[in-house]
Amino acid sequence: MDFKVADLALADFGRREIQLAEHEMPGLMAVRREYAETRPLAGAKIMGSLHMTIQTAVLIETLVALGADVRWVSCNIFSTQDHAAAAVVVGPEGTTDAPKGVPVFAWKGETLEEYWWCTDQALRWPDGTGPNMILDDGGDATLLVHKGAEYEKAGAVPSPAEEDPEEWKIILDLLRRTVTDENRWTTVAASIKGVTEETTTGVHRLYEMFKAGTLLFPAINVNDSVTKSKFDNKYGCRHSVIDGLNRATDVLIGGKVAVVCGYGDVGKGCADALRGQGARVIVTEIDPICALQAAMDGFQVTTLEDVVGIADIFVTTTGNFDIITAGHMGRMKHNAIVSNIGHFDNEIDMAGLAKTPGIVKTEVKPQVHTWTFPDGHQIIVLAEGRLMNLGCATGHPSFVMSNSFTNQVIAQIELFTKTEQYPIGVYVLPKHLDEKVARLHLDALGVKLTTLSKAQAEYIGVDIEGPYKPDHYRY
Ligand code: NAI
Repeated sequence: MDFKVADLALADFGRREIQLAEHEMPGLMAVRREYAETRPLAGAKIMGSLHMTIQTAVLIETLVALGADVRWVSCNIFSTQDHAAAAVVVGPEGTTDAPKGVPVFAWKGETLEEYWWCTDQALRWPDGTGPNMILDDGGDATLLVHKGAEYEKAGAVPSPAEEDPEEWKIILDLLRRTVTDENRWTTVAASIKGVTEETTTGVHRLYEMFKAGTLLFPAINVNDSVTKSKFDNKYGCRHSVIDGLNRATDVLIGGKVAVVCGYGDVGKGCADALRGQGARVIVTEIDPICALQAAMDGFQVTTLEDVVGIADIFVTTTGNFDIITAGHMGRMKHNAIVSNIGHFDNEIDMAGLAKTPGIVKTEVKPQVHTWTFPDGHQIIVLAEGRLMNLGCATGHPSFVMSNSFTNQVIAQIELFTKTEQYPIGVYVLPKHLDEKVARLHLDALGVKLTTLSKAQAEYIGVDIEGPYKPDHYRY
């Protein structure tokens, strides 16, 4: 088996944590039991690009239990948990000498070149073929296949412009080396039945491609299952934003002034968590609805410019770019903590910061750096501006990821087994499946549901068995 991880000797540790996680992931384990006999993913060749954590290990082994042939990478250079990666490669039945699990190409602290090399490797099956399904988080695997196919059709990979971001130059270089006469990327794209996308940022890319007419295969937007974005993005970040801050800096949060940029699902979870620790939380927003929500939730809402010099902790949650600029960082307090929990690292202008004349970067420990300005004051940047909850801590806990990943598995089954029902487009799972995911997590929390009477169901116009809300309901 081909694979590349940090250290297979970590597999036992990983396996013990996977076993603990399985207990906390009732949705995934229920899906395993439900499909143990029918194995609906037999024949599926799934390339996954999603943070290689312990929770993801349970997802991967669920896909395998349902019959899939899987290859995996992380979707971020810092988010891999090396013991999880090792355990997945070794597999429940294998040993470090004879691994029997799934090929994983991921380790914590990849360079960007290594990151894209890993993505390319996971898209290559040993028999020379590619995947027929993608499970993506942020859209990088989908992007590589689309750009490869586009340039192959055009007959050339464009040269990067001087001012292009470093990462784009790396992608173009990889494509230049892998675009072949055998039309590798076009063939891979044609064999893919669909992609299931995990996060807001990746979903945004998919809708853009569909609008532009360039999307090459159907996609299920897993993020906008209610049991994903209203849980993982919100309650997951409510947990892991504090975990990231604590493990990186262990600074006392109570009494500090914290700025949360963006008050969408992620921002709501982060602001709530910081307030829970006693921070005085200030929110920035561009959307009047979210700004009004933040105000009515009791947060001061203002612009970053107004508070950049008085805050102690900054967390960007927008999925947008240039939220905190180098200019902002130059005006921050000594030892202000600057972090991003949105998908990509361009929310904080790290490139601009690095170009500041006279600036000095010092590593405190991996994923925690001080940047000292010529006037002597410094700021603390977490995870080099990449998602701090996965870079500095271990991301979301198992229970909330069980909701997200149960949606992922159901979406993979949908696209793989009912391909003809999904012409090229971007879809969300039907509400009855969303409700099913929630239902699978109730027992573990001791939740007792009330059952509608027939008359009550008729009165509000729903079935006793659900769905209980119209599609336009917003929760
Ligand atoms: P969302 O769309 O619900 O929220 C983003 C908010 O930022 C919106 O309300 C928007 O109006 C606001 N915003 C946009 N530009 C802004 C600006 N210049 N200043 C202030 N506010 C601005 O998206 P969601 O679901 O909250 O996701 C946000 C990001 O977090 C995405 O990149 C997503 O992929 C990522 N994500 C990260 C997770 C993690 O574990 N680190 C988990 C889930 C999502």
